[in-house]
Amino acid sequence: MLSVPDTHLPHRGIRAVNEYFEAGFITELTEGAMKKIMVRDHPILLAMALGHYYAVDAFCPHLEGDLSEGSLRGTILTCPMHHSRFDIRDGHVIRWTDLTGIRFSIDSRAHPPRPLKNYPVRVEGEKILISLVRF
Ligand code: FES
Repeated sequence: MLSVPDTHLPHRGIRAVNEYFEAGFITELTEGAMKKIMVRDHPILLAMALGHYYAVDAFCPHLEGDLSEGSLRGTILTCPMHHSRFDIRDGHVIRWTDLTGIRFSIDSRAHPPRPLKNYPVRVEGEKILISLVRF
């Protein structure tokens, strides 16, 4: 388990509370909003969906599409590149790309479906905290 002292991290100015890191404030995200942040050099997408906060990898497990430029409807996050869809509650794949037929077969062999990594989130007061320890 990642263990970080409760100190300011000098290289990013991100404060760690036990193994959780300050990711933002609840006032920064409204329903359906997403925000890309860096946590210890790891790009994370922070989102609010159906009244809860979620943290997932900021780049798509297919071909690294920037998910912060995608769309969020409810808890369904759609990649802007090939429109894979993930449920941000646990990262499972709902649809793997919008390719069809032989193109889907070839692409899926080279890049088999993989879930989106998600991370624990908790709220303390006004602060949103995330852990890089995966569920
Ligand atoms: S890069 Fe996201 S679906 Fe292809």
